[in-house]
Amino acid sequence: MCGIIGVTGDDGALGTLFDGLRRLEYRGYDSAGVALVDGDHVWRARAADGTRSVDDLHAATADAPPSRTGIGHTRWATHGGPTAENAHPHEDCTGRIALVHNGIIENHAELAAPLAARGHTFTSETDTEVLVHLIEEEMSGGAGLADAVRATLRTVRGAFSVVAIASGEPDLIVAGRRSVPLLVALGDGTGLVASDVSALLGRADRYFALDDDQVVEIGPGTLRVTTLEGAEVDPTAVTVDPAWDVVAAQMDGFDDFMSKEIHEQPRAIADTLLDRRASDGALVLDELRLSPDEVRAVDKIVVVACGSSYHAGMVAKYAIEHWARIPVEVEIASELRYREPVLHERTLVVGVSQSGETLDTLEALREARRAGARTIAVSNVVHSTMAREADGAIYTRAGPEVSVASTKCHLAQMVALDVLALALAQWRGTIGPQGVGAAMDELARLPSMVEDALGRQKDVDAVADALLGARDYFFIGRNVGYPVALEGALKLKEISYLRAEGYPAGELKHGPLALIEPGTVVVAVLDPLRDKMLSNVAEASARGATVVLVVSDATAAATAAATAAAATAAATAATAAATAATAADHVIYVPNVREPVLAPVVEVVPLQLLAYGLARRLGNDVDRPRNLAKTVTVE
Ligand code: F6R
Repeated sequence: MCGIIGVTGDDGALGTLFDGLRRLEYRGYDSAGVALVDGDHVWRARAADGTRSVDDLHAATADAPPSRTGIGHTRWATHGGPTAENAHPHEDCTGRIALVHNGIIENHAELAAPLAARGHTFTSETDTEVLVHLIEEEMSGGAGLADAVRATLRTVRGAFSVVAIASGEPDLIVAGRRSVPLLVALGDGTGLVASDVSALLGRADRYFALDDDQVVEIGPGTLRVTTLEGAEVDPTAVTVDPAWDVVAAQMDGFDDFMSKEIHEQPRAIADTLLDRRASDGALVLDELRLSPDEVRAVDKIVVVACGSSYHAGMVAKYAIEHWARIPVEVEIASELRYREPVLHERTLVVGVSQSGETLDTLEALREARRAGARTIAVSNVVHSTMAREADGAIYTRAGPEVSVASTKCHLAQMVALDVLALALAQWRGTIGPQGVGAAMDELARLPSMVEDALGRQKDVDAVADALLGARDYFFIGRNVGYPVALEGALKLKEISYLRAEGYPAGELKHGPLALIEPGTVVVAVLDPLRDKMLSNVAEASARGATVVLVVSDATAAATAAATAAAATAAATAATAAATAATAADHVIYVPNVREPVLAPVVEVVPLQLLAYGLARRLGNDVDRPRNLAKTVTVE
């Protein structure tokens, strides 16, 4: 997630920008830059050296001109690699306007084409640069900076917070946002703007939040807020907790990064879905670098990954086989390396990794390339080693994940792999444009369904309270519910240190049932294959297990209807579910997803919350669980 800071009316503007950039470093970044108003142009410096970028940038600003107005940015690459050319701020062709951006401009390509035809020179691969050229055109037609920003943002599709400065208006910062937070602050004769409060603490006495599709004109100690159409609106004042220090502010009101990241999941999956459809509805995966002909030649897909990424890969097997009808194997990366896998040029090997650096997955992809297979990396880090070495890449856009246990990246991986599955189906013709459109529409509903699932935290907390004291857990599911069960068990063992096993529900009676006794907790993901699941739940229940059911609202509604209508033949299964729900010790309801292969994205949420709730009640450090590292670069 990029970080933004801007200031005006400050004799020490550059120092304020650097202080802000350092406080924004926690968001994760791979390059950084600043721009200052300097006479009749803007002065700019940028550096791309991973997490050393702010230090490098500082060294590069030793000869910066004195200025009272400037903007700064830490970039987490999404469009275009982490290079100095792609780092923000971006400048217009005249060198008089500079702009920073956080978010994704979905229609950047269609906006850029006419600008290029009119002679604008683009110097980066970013989706952002188009904005500064659009502002330039407006200003060359006589508009002031604020009108130019409003006109530009009216043409944009996507999510953004942007901040711009122009040399012709040296005491002004103009900022706008949609779906991406931006906070404005006024100090004694100064005006500031930042992507989060940590960059502003101690520098202001009044704070204001910008709402969607609003633009703010910030002067030294002044602000004016308008709609994109220019109608003036009252600024939304916000209170900042005076007790917050920078670290507390970085948590954004959450107790830890894990819960912050769990609550960022709707945004993470919405961003991962942005920019994937062309105007004719066809799916576009820019970085895939595989031609439709190469895709049509593929006769087997092998997904390699570790941990939570492996579980996302397991869900993808169902999606790819369902939509694209290509056989899929999913393999633990460390296992693929040391056998003799049958891979050839018609095999597509997909490495799934949040970091893009996990050694086992990286080596499995290298092994696949040596065998002549085509490779794709699904990574959250643009230009990670996997993404660089693979033939193609698909980026999840979850922003940096700080907490060791993966949450938002896991959801974003499932969604990115769903898009891959649909793209494969489109190119192979296994489903038509209407089918692709309907599935993409259902994917687009997922952010609000995840939001809904998060809104039910109280229900999960009540279950966590009741389960405190239990030591042994089984998570069971069938079909796509099985990887959900595996992920629920992994999350629980990682952060709560409780014994937790994930099993395909049908396997219970082939051994693990021997371990079930009074006090054992069985968490059952009831959908899909509800009736089969119910038999397995009954087996566990009969042996004294404490049963927790994860049930979709649709099943709940069907059971209610069936109970009311008595047991007609059609309602028998639903009645059985109602009976089981009544017999279960606890039931957690989740929003209903119409397309079953997409349901894991929502169903895993209460299991994350359950693991989190239990770990917190046990007094564990959820962000830094014992014995585990965030990025595993050893075998
Ligand atoms: C689970 C978790 C790990 C990672 C695994 C793979 O919460 O964080 O199991 O999923 O180490 O890491 P990446 O995705 O970076 O390859």
